[in-house]
Amino acid sequence: MREGFPEGFLWGGATAANQIEGGLTDGKGLSVADCYSFDSKLPKSEWSKQWKEMTHAQVKEAMNKESQLYFPKRKGIDFYNYYKEDIKLFAEMGFKAYRMSIAWSRIFPEGDELEPNEEGLAFYDKVFDELEKYDIEPIVTISHYEMPLNLTTNYDGWTNRKLISFFENYSRVLFLRYKEKVKYWMTFNEINSMIKHPFTSIGVIEEGNRNLMQDIFQSAHHQFVAGALATKLCHEIIPDAKMGCMISYQMPIPYSCNPDDVQLSVEEQRKTLFFSDVQVRGYYPAYTARLFKNLGVELEIQNDDEAILKNNTADYIGFSYYMSTASSSEPEKFDKVQGNLLNNGVKNPFLAITEWGWQVDPKSFRVSLNQLYDLYQKPILVAENGLGAIDILKEDERIQDTYRIEYLKSHICEMKEAIKDGVDIIGFTSWGCIDCISASTSQMTKRYGFIHVDMDDEGEGSLKRTKKDSFYWYQQVINTNGEKLD
Ligand code: BG6
Repeated sequence: MREGFPEGFLWGGATAANQIEGGLTDGKGLSVADCYSFDSKLPKSEWSKQWKEMTHAQVKEAMNKESQLYFPKRKGIDFYNYYKEDIKLFAEMGFKAYRMSIAWSRIFPEGDELEPNEEGLAFYDKVFDELEKYDIEPIVTISHYEMPLNLTTNYDGWTNRKLISFFENYSRVLFLRYKEKVKYWMTFNEINSMIKHPFTSIGVIEEGNRNLMQDIFQSAHHQFVAGALATKLCHEIIPDAKMGCMISYQMPIPYSCNPDDVQLSVEEQRKTLFFSDVQVRGYYPAYTARLFKNLGVELEIQNDDEAILKNNTADYIGFSYYMSTASSSEPEKFDKVQGNLLNNGVKNPFLAITEWGWQVDPKSFRVSLNQLYDLYQKPILVAENGLGAIDILKEDERIQDTYRIEYLKSHICEMKEAIKDGVDIIGFTSWGCIDCISASTSQMTKRYGFIHVDMDDEGEGSLKRTKKDSFYWYQQVINTNGEKLD
């Protein structure tokens, strides 16, 4: 039996370009992420509305150069200028790895150019060099919620097969440029999220769309083929590199032992596992025939697609875990659960919830790890896990985020159990290791970091970085390779 974390375990943190960089300059184009505005005067319940249902009018407004709205993801936490300072802090915590993403729209501002933007490429050279200085392994997501906006407005997003070659070209440019610097890659962040927020993930606007399911699954097919072609290129250009897929898994537990609840939870699980099944096994699982029939989906698949998928599967599975949900065949009897990518889940009475209503369930983290490993027998990277909370910066400059420490501790304990169960876990990159803009609500004050950034929801503040109590706690976790968690 394996005890404890393996040597060389990739402890670290994760962020995404669109939520930290800012730097809408040096040739960077607008991305879908740059369309999200924030207005604190709106009721809180409205703050994630755009995330779920971006409208044509909102996109038009975002493209208006004179717009008076505040678009937080255009500012991020100014990592574009602070990267040296931030990476130094990551190094001080002892990070072995840093999961980050490249902004597609910084490399190809419109997405459809043939030649890349040199200034964009140069920026990531500087970031990778800085990481190397501290021996931090970059784990790079090629596309994390920020495709170039032009691919949405002029091509209808990933419904258009042309995006496969744009993505292939983009990936080739990255592999050729960074082949000496980056060995861990990932294709699409939380690829299954397209079902819940199609604008962010596939550039499809839900409003007025009569064929939404068709568009979503056709886009999924295009992303699968694009991801497989990128995997092929990655292996050809950087033979010692690994390419991972990435899903968000919010394990649906049957609400009760009523067989109807059990059946429903299996169906809900498949809505997520479908995405890893195709990318890890290299073919569409048998259950998709019925799923597509029920949804009225008919995929256009070209001749070579099946071979491309079959021959270029993911080397490892990246996944984000924040919570579980409960599946009930009588959902009207219960309160709905909150969260980013939720299925039709209901509240589980055994679990506590965060300030944003996300259910905290470390035990199902262990179950998920076991389940993914049982299914695929491929190494697993915990690409995201963490707690979004309101932090208070006291006068003595201290932030006592014991709640975050407790959350992470309980999840790391369960990850340790999963390792004892035999699961091959290669790393853990905690989400939002430095405070950043929330993906779903575009707030700044939904903080996940070990490092506080002085900025409020309106983008005001000094941007000063301050270490939280969790900074020192995580430093100790890494120093002891996960042995000392108290
Ligand atoms: C994941 C995303 O879904 O959850 C991240 O990959 C995101 O981009 C994280 O930030 C936390 O979600 P939120 O909405 O609280 O920022």
